[in-house]
Amino acid sequence: MTSQLSTNQLDAFWLPFTPNTEFKKRPRMLARAEGMHYFDQDGRKVLDASAGLWCANAGHCRKPIVDAIAKAAATLDFAPTFQFGHPAAFEAAARIAALAPAGLDHVFFTNSGSESTDTAVKIAVAWHRARGEGTRTKIIGRERGYHGVGMAGISAGGIGNNRKWFGALGFQADHLPATYNRAEQAFSNGQPEWGAHLADELEKIVALHDASNIAAVIVEPMAGSTGVLPPPKGYLEKLRSICTKHGILLIFDEVITGFGRLGTAFAAERFGVTPDLLTFAKGVTSGAVPMGGVLVDKRIYQQFMTGPDHAIDMFHGYTYSGHPIAAAAACATLDVYRDEGLFDRAKNLEAYFGEGVHSLKGKPGVADIRNIGLAAAIDLDPLDGAPGKRGFELMKHLFFDKDVMCRVSGDTLAFSPPLIAEKAHVDEMFGKVAEALATH
Ligand SMILES: Cc1ncc(COP(=O)(O)O)c(C=O)c1O
Repeated sequence: MTSQLSTNQLDAFWLPFTPNTEFKKRPRMLARAEGMHYFDQDGRKVLDASAGLWCANAGHCRKPIVDAIAKAAATLDFAPTFQFGHPAAFEAAARIAALAPAGLDHVFFTNSGSESTDTAVKIAVAWHRARGEGTRTKIIGRERGYHGVGMAGISAGGIGNNRKWFGALGFQADHLPATYNRAEQAFSNGQPEWGAHLADELEKIVALHDASNIAAVIVEPMAGSTGVLPPPKGYLEKLRSICTKHGILLIFDEVITGFGRLGTAFAAERFGVTPDLLTFAKGVTSGAVPMGGVLVDKRIYQQFMTGPDHAIDMFHGYTYSGHPIAAAAACATLDVYRDEGLFDRAKNLEAYFGEGVHSLKGKPGVADIRNIGLAAAIDLDPLDGAPGKRGFELMKHLFFDKDVMCRVSGDTLAFSPPLIAEKAHVDEMFGKVAEALATH
């Protein structure tokens, strides 16, 4: 393998969510991965403090997952799941449903989180229509929410830049206020005490649009991409009860929180609140093969199962829904999670991880710190007139000079290591962040 790519070789690939010109001047190239680490093209070892992109919960290149993928590729490279099936997809669905709260018994497979949002929203709208309530088409998201980049995701999502470039958005949507308020919540460890009342805003939205026009509310139980916003205590419970009261479906987007990030299989379990639909992706295969899906409550599924026998029950699906290699990777990943007790491991490391990140309070430029499970974020004071620059420069400094890879979103750094992390990894990542903050 050549150690460096030439400028020409870098030209064709338009990287997503990246300043491409800047990247191509000095690429942050990842050539290999193992366990808790990436290695660049020169073999430099970098601590993965972000599980790739919130995906590699089992760590990288885990042998049981690699072996399952190789075996599946050699046994059944592809099989359609439109009117045919193959065993691994059924096994994966049953095992994922078994991890989910009671009632979420069915799985519709997709290939990504974005497709999972589109799928969940379409199921919600179609379900209301099937019950004779076809005017329920509006989606309620939340400011600062991220649900991927499909049309449903950017309509329901609440991050301005992801929306403003793309004209009239796909689904009609309205938005709850974000749950974050620095004055009330700064440096909270875990769920903030303040903010449950923000769920009551849903009543105002219902009064404005009328419940008969609203299909679903979609929220991340813990908002991840915007910078780790744990839900205020009591907030999700209130959302659940207001949705139930008005016949509105509640969708939890668990693309980040699913598969152990908060110390339980799903955040729904941790918070004791069960949605009607639950989207997942990322951790389901530890990122090794693209896969996503939607867990569907049994009463919703049953509504579509009315026949006749020759008629398709829902006109939706992807060529690669339940792809054999992805399904095999999912089953092997779930084995690793179970055999190594990784969800409990995350739970047991949470307090230490929380102490580690909060030890950065008072360091130069630190405006707030939040954490829950094995997810944490540090808000930095923006540089005058250059929002986002400080975060971006710090992320690069950590990668090139401190051998730590983390996520950056504006002036917020996010940390979400693989669930196999040891205390020493936590010490290393936050120790190096402390050093970096001293110079940036
Ligand atoms: C909560 C949430 N939903 C959806 C997505 C979109 O997933 P994907 O990039 O796989 O489409 C993400 C990605 O980070 C996410 O965090």
